[in-house]
Amino acid sequence: MSVVPNPGNGKITVPDLLRRKSFAAGHPTTTQKITCLTAYDYPTARLVDEAGVDVILVGDSLGMVVLGHESTLPVTLGDMLHHTRAVRRGARRALVVADMPFGSYHADTAESLRNAVRFVKEGGAEAVKVEGGERRLELIARLTEAEIPVMGHVGLTPQSLNALGGYRVQGKTPDAAKQLLRDARAVEASGAFAVVLEAVPRELATEITRDLRIPTIGIGAGPDCDGQVLVLHDLLGLTFSPLPKFARRYANVGKTISSAVREYCADVRNGAFPSDAESYHAAHLAKEDKEAPVNTDGDW
Ligand code: KIV
Repeated sequence: MSVVPNPGNGKITVPDLLRRKSFAAGHPTTTQKITCLTAYDYPTARLVDEAGVDVILVGDSLGMVVLGHESTLPVTLGDMLHHTRAVRRGARRALVVADMPFGSYHADTAESLRNAVRFVKEGGAEAVKVEGGERRLELIARLTEAEIPVMGHVGLTPQSLNALGGYRVQGKTPDAAKQLLRDARAVEASGAFAVVLEAVPRELATEITRDLRIPTIGIGAGPDCDGQVLVLHDLLGLTFSPLPKFARRYANVGKTISSAVREYCADVRNGAFPSDAESYHAAHLAKEDKEAPVNTDGDW
């Protein structure tokens, strides 16, 4: 399904995203904001891609919104590869970025590199995302040296849930804000092509966005980032817990699914489904029952 990037064929590439930096050389430009959404399977990837999103993130948030875990920590490399392959088959234009799950890049660099290579070779990802700032310097440098584009992720990093003690807005004190700026700079210095800023005060996100040469993609970081990302299931109304303050629900697909399923169950129970037109017929059998309408259209 994927399209090989060629100049002018519309396929979104890493250099395209770098050109969308809105504060090139410290001055605001009028480039179009980068749109990014998560997707975890073939149909959603296809719909999101065809609707024109620039970047599809196969986020490890799938552990919570698709697999029903309480956090992203149990998500395995196998889970991520499985879903990345499905997304790859559905995505044509968007850049596909795969999240490296907890534990897959925390041991030695060689093993982390081997895992990242699997996302490209087996999953069809065009880039990987890793959480963390200064402490990922060496890793990000090694991956980019191996020609694997890396998206960084600083601020609230859900894989640090146990260390952070909960999902909280980050960078709220002057010291924490300075550390966050150092983290974002480290991600850039190590060669990442973009960085996700999650749950940070708008003012700090604006400062980081002005400071960096690579695009910032915000989630709960205010409107001044170079792009925005949301978890698709939050946007669609397909989650079961209250939305975080920063997420916006654009549809209530959960409600649509529930009412379609209720209607189906009622139709089966009262005999309205399937109808005769939704049944197959064999002419020689139907002849014996003169009353039955014969529908011998081709299969399917
Ligand atoms: O896993 C994910 O969906 C993410 C986004 C929220 C940025 O990391």
